[in-house]
Amino acid sequence: MTDTKQSRSGSLYAVPQAVEDPAGCYFYHTMEIPGHGTIPGDWDLRGGLKEYLGGVEVRGKRVLDVGAASGCVSFYAESEGAEVVSYDLSDGNGWDIVPYARLGDDQFRLKVDTIRRLNRAYWFCHRATGSKAKMVFGTVYAIPREIGDVDVSIFGSILLHVRDPFLALQSALSLTRETAVIAEPLKIPSGGRPVMEFVPDSATAEKKETWWLLTPEIIQRFIAVLGFARSEVFFHTQKYQGGIPVKYFTVVGHRTEALRPEPEK
Ligand SMILES: C[S@@+](CC[C@H](N)C(=O)[O-])C[C@H]1O[C@@H](n2cnc3c(N)ncnc32)[C@H](O)[C@@H]1O
Repeated sequence: MTDTKQSRSGSLYAVPQAVEDPAGCYFYHTMEIPGHGTIPGDWDLRGGLKEYLGGVEVRGKRVLDVGAASGCVSFYAESEGAEVVSYDLSDGNGWDIVPYARLGDDQFRLKVDTIRRLNRAYWFCHRATGSKAKMVFGTVYAIPREIGDVDVSIFGSILLHVRDPFLALQSALSLTRETAVIAEPLKIPSGGRPVMEFVPDSATAEKKETWWLLTPEIIQRFIAVLGFARSEVFFHTQKYQGGIPVKYFTVVGHRTEALRPEPEK
């Protein structure tokens, strides 16, 4: 298990896995891999990454990529000159699966295998691209302070998948000196209102991995509470499964209150 390797090494950072074969990997992102060409994934962010990050310049910045998946955003930020810490679940941490009472435990087991294959894809791309990005495994709700401060935190398409998006933001932004970048699909008309819609529906028991559809305004309200009172919203379109256009927004938040050390518990 990947997280076991992390704790065995006694280090915060996971020991890179030598994954040389794309078999057994789950590519969330379409990736260009030296020696392997284009490996198709669910989302093809190539060509849309600048927009995905709201145009934020990461050169010379320390960047935390929260929910890195197969690593496209991490490796892009690195290629732009950032020092990158990727962060994600390992197969030892639980995804916030919607606990539909009428479904059995299999819904949880399935996700463990997906995360294992997703982690493999990250290490495959990490090795093949010669990446120096560091990986920390854990839940978004408890990002270790030992990572130290970062300049930029990136939340790409993760808040919709977590039961508590505010706590997820609080966890990362308490380490973030300058900029918060949050990209989410644009699915509900907000009418300018700070709202989020609860996705799970017991009638269908579908969407076991998705909790919320958020508006840009609620994200702006969340991050303002956390000390990022100045923010902008950008709109763009990204490509899903072979090119289906999906509307997206990215909120870029700027720190307006000093970063304070965590209070003693
Ligand atoms: C939909 S993918 C987005 C990948 C990438 N950030 C992007 O923008 O393309 C969501 C990622 O968040 C991670 N994730 C989901 N729930 C999490 C949690 N509770 N803690 C940490 N990571 C989580 C998943 O493992 C996955 O890598």
